[in-house]
Amino acid sequence: MIVLGIESSCDETAAAVFDTESGLRSNVIASQAEHIPFGGVVPEMASRAHTERIVPVVRQALTDAGVTLDEIRALAVTAGPGLIGSLLVGVSFAKGVAFIRRLPLVPVHHMEAHVFASRIEHPDLAPPFLALVVSGGHTQLIWVPKWGTYRVLGTTRDDAVGEAFDKVAKILGIGYPGGPLIDRLARDGNADWVKFPKAFIKGDPFAFSFSGLKTAVLMAVEKTPENELELRKADLAASFQKAAVGALVQTTLRAARKMRARRVVLGGGVASNSALRREMEAACARIGIEVTRPSPIFCTDNAAMTACAGAFWFERGRRAGYNFNPNPRLPLDAFGNE
Ligand code: KG4
Ligand code: ZN
Repeated sequence: MIVLGIESSCDETAAAVFDTESGLRSNVIASQAEHIPFGGVVPEMASRAHTERIVPVVRQALTDAGVTLDEIRALAVTAGPGLIGSLLVGVSFAKGVAFIRRLPLVPVHHMEAHVFASRIEHPDLAPPFLALVVSGGHTQLIWVPKWGTYRVLGTTRDDAVGEAFDKVAKILGIGYPGGPLIDRLARDGNADWVKFPKAFIKGDPFAFSFSGLKTAVLMAVEKTPENELELRKADLAASFQKAAVGALVQTTLRAARKMRARRVVLGGGVASNSALRREMEAACARIGIEVTRPSPIFCTDNAAMTACAGAFWFERGRRAGYNFNPNPRLPLDAFGNE
């Protein structure tokens, strides 16, 4: 059974073809470089760019997969959470195609799709496991007792961790998006140059907080003599990254112990971070927990994960009518659990 996935929740216009028998057939992602000069996603620009790109991106996904719309059995589309204008482009497009081709429409939760991203390369991946989904918009620890059932154990009280990477990159003046730039710069830095505090929330052992860390970096930058700053940027980036990754790893391990998890599954853009991958793997290995990390192309926003999750739900009967609308704050259980 072949599913066409469409993802447009933020600033990536993406389409992919997923075959339940042979796996992923194509995966096309058009990233929007027009936000770079603004140092962040400009929502109106993002929706306009999605409108311009969605048709060529979907065409490319079909061509790369060597299929036509005649062979597609269902359309899976990101229903939220995300930017409403961006989501609307993907959902409206999917509705139009579904209507004209008489195809079933399967709404997919974006965070669930980030968890499913690991299943693309590891089709045998089996719950129970603990998922850490870390992106520009979210930082969530999700307990997955079985595919299609989720329990959010912890989330961020303020900034998402990817947002913190982006803001710190802005403070350091190194560009946007900040995550990959900090990751690269930190390789040449001394991670112990500044001992930034890791924030833990009293009474909520699985919660995250990154805004204090971002402010601490700003204060450290302000304290650094101007003629030294250029030399110290790598040290500051490495020190920030160590604190951010440390908080993610420690909190994940705490939750893993509580849930007696045997596996941790990473997802979301920040799951590409080399220090997070390394530190999580080392810490989990010490207590006999395995880590599943998708390839970077499946960490960032993509439609392969949307199609993969959509195929799962299609087989379980999930359908949306033409009156369905995206929800920028869609809860994980909006369409019911398995
Ligand atoms: O999942 P994603 O592509 O989009 C959202 O749903 O937000 O995540 C984007 C976020 C951005 O904040 C970006 O800076 C961050 O992921 N990111 C990274 C790395 N690559 C992307 N953060 C840290 N290290 C990286 N290597
Ligand atoms: Zn995402």
